[in-house]
Amino acid sequence: MEESYKRIIKISKIIRHTMNVAMIFFAMSLPTGLVIAFFPFHRDEDMKIFIDSLIGNVNLLPTDLVRTFFGETHLKIQLILCGLSVAVLGLIIVLIIRELKKIFNKIIGSQAPFTREISSDFKKLSVKTLILCLFSTLLALSVFIFLRLLAYVFEYGAYLQDKADETNRIQEEMIMSFAEITENKSEQTGKHVRRVAEYSMIMAEEMGIEEDRAKLIRLASTMHDIGKLLIPAEILEKPARLTDEEFAQIKKHPGFGGDLLNNVEGDVMRMARTVALEHHERPDGRGYPEGKTGDTLSIEGCIVAVADVYDALTSKRSYKQAWDEKDAYNEILKGKGTQFDAKVVDAFEKAYPRINAVREELQG
Ligand SMILES: [Fe+2]
Ligand SMILES: [Fe+2]
Repeated sequence: MEESYKRIIKISKIIRHTMNVAMIFFAMSLPTGLVIAFFPFHRDEDMKIFIDSLIGNVNLLPTDLVRTFFGETHLKIQLILCGLSVAVLGLIIVLIIRELKKIFNKIIGSQAPFTREISSDFKKLSVKTLILCLFSTLLALSVFIFLRLLAYVFEYGAYLQDKADETNRIQEEMIMSFAEITENKSEQTGKHVRRVAEYSMIMAEEMGIEEDRAKLIRLASTMHDIGKLLIPAEILEKPARLTDEEFAQIKKHPGFGGDLLNNVEGDVMRMARTVALEHHERPDGRGYPEGKTGDTLSIEGCIVAVADVYDALTSKRSYKQAWDEKDAYNEILKGKGTQFDAKVVDAFEKAYPRINAVREELQG
């Protein structure tokens, strides 16, 4: 008797601990079941769209998002299944509690409760509770699959991120090489391209453009004069003032730049094309090559226009001396709203201490 009492104590301890674990598990697994029902990836390509959007490879359209997260029949089916499984679980628990109640009523109502009938009732009920085990196993399986899925999502994301980093690095190197070739061909030796790039980014930041886009503007701006590759060297390198005819030739370089970058893909290259085309346009329509007006000009083109002129003024050329930085500063401010976009000039004015510091740092 003493032995069986010890066994009962031991088993009750095990049951207590198992129940504790089961309660924690149940609390964890139910939300997981719901998460799986709401899981946004219902088609093979959804996960790719999702990861791509996270690492900025594609611009996800709102319609894609809606379709990805809400639009599929799949989602409705999964919701119904999840609702059904929760309902079944509730039903099983209610049935077990009702049976338990019946047994306890029997025990309370009887003066000699330790009967074989009640023992057999408990045995039958214990078998019924096995269904709960099955349910928990299914939920455990869901948790397991969900976590594995997350692991693979992150692994795949890391792979795509590596690829994207590599592509961006190669693209950046190619752009810088192009910029250097252009710079070497024209008379703008020194660090013109780098300074224009830095000024452009500073102004973009000052205008509240988000960091990633400001960096894109910096990179794209390095190709603003790429069209000069198609201008004869005698004109570009002429150590004197240009004739009207020669100047007309030079004025073709934005259009040439646009043509060179016509069929490019990717955000940077597309922006580079816009900048190449528009960096000599003016809001008052007196710029070239197209004489576009303020409302049709891109903000990137307007930013690079200011950066380019400020650097041209403060740099020595074969036909002119470098202007004093204060005169160049005033010249930019004078062009506000006519030669240059007013908002960009405001940003130039506010960020001038930083711009001037970069000019001093990157002289030569
Ligand atoms: Fe230019
Ligand atoms: Fe330039």
